[in-house]
Amino acid sequence: MTQMRILGIETSCDETAAAVVEDGRYLISNVVASSARLHVPYGGVIPEIAARSQLESIVPVINEAVTAVGGWDGIDAIAVTQGPGLIGSLLIGGLSARSLALLRNKPLYSVNHVQAHPYAAFIEKTKLPGYKLKAQPRFPYLALIVSGGHTQLVIYKSHHNYRLLGQTTDDAVGEAFDKVAKVLGLPYPGGPSVNTAAKKGRAGNVLLPDVTPKSGCDFSFSGLKTAVLRAGQSLAGKDFTLPSSALSGLLSVSQKQDLAAAFQDRAITALTATLERAAKEYRPTDIVVAGGVAANVALRAALDRLPTPVIYPDIKLCTDNAAMVASLAYYQRQKADPLKLGVEPNLSM
Ligand code: KG4
Ligand code: ZN
Repeated sequence: MTQMRILGIETSCDETAAAVVEDGRYLISNVVASSARLHVPYGGVIPEIAARSQLESIVPVINEAVTAVGGWDGIDAIAVTQGPGLIGSLLIGGLSARSLALLRNKPLYSVNHVQAHPYAAFIEKTKLPGYKLKAQPRFPYLALIVSGGHTQLVIYKSHHNYRLLGQTTDDAVGEAFDKVAKVLGLPYPGGPSVNTAAKKGRAGNVLLPDVTPKSGCDFSFSGLKTAVLRAGQSLAGKDFTLPSSALSGLLSVSQKQDLAAAFQDRAITALTATLERAAKEYRPTDIVVAGGVAANVALRAALDRLPTPVIYPDIKLCTDNAAMVASLAYYQRQKADPLKLGVEPNLSM
């Protein structure tokens, strides 16, 4: 059988990424440029800055990925993220992919970004240095996709037969980490800084609500974020009228650490307990956890206690990347018309 090399292009948020993957599993090149540091002063991604950075990075990033396979003759098809994501960012990747498909006369495939995240775990081979890869997940598998933009639980019975079991009804879990960090005066991105503070804190010192869904698989994290604010105001001896921006200056280091620990504990309990319940019901062979929050060591420790094997893609493939886009396109082959493909900022699964 002839091999198929797909160039993936991913520009849904603040990463500009291109990768070449052979037959959905062999990673040949993986290039990611991130504008994350430009958003640090604002404590969150600024869409206009993200889109401008996409425009600056897209050509060099694609060039580097394609050069690694000896040029365009080494590419059989192009795959691109159609959505969900920031419209300005999506447009840069979408229009680049359409133009290149026409210019280079390659088939074009469109991909749902959320659906692509677990496909990072389908990359099982590479000659690139520094990757820890595992065997591909076995069907049926449950995927927990947790990042700054998503919190989704999906069952994949095959590449074409999948079902969204639940998702966040408000903030994504990574977004909640980022917002809590902001309230506590910890640096952006919030995930790593809340985690570092939490290690030194005592979760039991602050009472926060249990946000584990009582039934079903939908999550909610915005109430937990507000509960952190209220608990912080109370620790500072103030009432709810104290602006969140004034709180961090009134809290001691150890109070912030306790708040971080209590928040992280509740967020992880909600994710783990819901995943465990879903695993009992759907009996997956494997569980895949993908997205930036999958880097959280406390989450990993909690999930590793589950009886089902849990697969984490290499951390470079947990955050936004184009390898997952190329891999899903190989298995799914959702053809797109390069003259017509539109981006879908609210694309659902
Ligand atoms: O997948 P990602 O790089 O970008 C998208 O949002 O698509 O995820 C970034 C998110 C941020 O919200 C960040 O705070 C969170 O992942 N994150 C973490 C950790 N590292 C990154 N959350 C918790 N613990 C971490 N160690
Ligand atoms: Zn993502």
